[in-house]
Amino acid sequence: MNKKPVMKIVGTGHFLPDNVLTNKDLEKIMDTTDEWITQRVGIKERRVIGDADLSTSDMATAAGKAAMEDAGISPEDIDCIIVATISPDMNFPATAIFVQKNLGAVNAAAFDISAACTGWIYAMTVAEGYIAAGKFKNILVIGAEFLTSLADINDRATYVLFGDASGAVVVQPADGENGMIGSYIKSNGDLAELLWSYGGGTKVNKKVSDQEICFDKNGNDNRAKVRMEGNRVYKYAVRAMIESAEKAMEDAGITEDDLTFLIPHQANLRIIDAIAERVKMPDEKVMRNIQYVGNTSSASIPVALDQAIKQGRIKKGDVVLTAAFGGGFTWGGLVIKI
Ligand code: UT7
Repeated sequence: MNKKPVMKIVGTGHFLPDNVLTNKDLEKIMDTTDEWITQRVGIKERRVIGDADLSTSDMATAAGKAAMEDAGISPEDIDCIIVATISPDMNFPATAIFVQKNLGAVNAAAFDISAACTGWIYAMTVAEGYIAAGKFKNILVIGAEFLTSLADINDRATYVLFGDASGAVVVQPADGENGMIGSYIKSNGDLAELLWSYGGGTKVNKKVSDQEICFDKNGNDNRAKVRMEGNRVYKYAVRAMIESAEKAMEDAGITEDDLTFLIPHQANLRIIDAIAERVKMPDEKVMRNIQYVGNTSSASIPVALDQAIKQGRIKKGDVVLTAAFGGGFTWGGLVIKI
């Protein structure tokens, strides 16, 4: 029935910082309510780096280590490290480089992918290409985000949404029916302004005159903070998630009847419900952890995947659909037979 996979997942891991920021905590620092956040988004609390001495690469390293241990391989076995992130440690070198150093993955190539919340899905398709070409045997695919560092405390419409986290998988060449059997990735640059971090890059560094976007009333430099037209993003998000699901299933040669589990990008409980309804997945077969972790962008799906496996909700042979959308606009989906 379905396509033969090129690559399979042999280990998963994730990392969440210890600090918990609840909606009640947010009520104390901005004009918001637990009720608004719960009803509109579904988040109750999120994990944040806060005052901990941690970076994106530290979180990526922890998730990568956990996935390697799960896979039973050592750092020397890793041929390539791909980190999907929009909150890198620095412009360059890539966050993946620090992960390579931290892990002692002395035989690995390492680079980042920037595709916002769809980043980990994009990274998985890149890993698949390397494995199909026979280039690499063990690839660490990580999604890691320190998104709270990009959130603007003066913007309650975005600040309440984000959390910090990382998730990772080790992938290897498939040797049977189990593995990634379908994928779909897409983009639309016409929608870039709906969701972006405007500053920080070479283009915008020149444009410091753009005072309104760059500086808040206290003179703080906000050029790198996230800006979003939430309402418009929401509308495109639902469409993008449904298209991703349909196209990834089509690529896999399956229908929704063949699916046994759904892991949507955790951006909004209402968006998760919409995609679950479209693929007719009952509640117990849908991963929802947004209540506890918030939106962690490219870390969202690998964190949820690891949790679902470790909680025994996903078992060997399950056919899992993942779908995501994010800034760019980017969107995409994967079908993975575990
Ligand atoms: O991973 C991709 C990231 N992007 C997303 O996930 C975004 C997708 N979009 C969404 O999830 C929703 O659009 C949001 C949750 C961001 C916003 O929900 P909404 O139902 O679209 O609300 P809205 O932006 O239309 O705002 C409705 C009201 C406004 O007040 P008025 O103008 O009606 O008086 C906002 O000022 O809610 C107000 N509001 C808040 N109130 C309390 C906005 N943020 C907050 C807040 N607390 N944190």
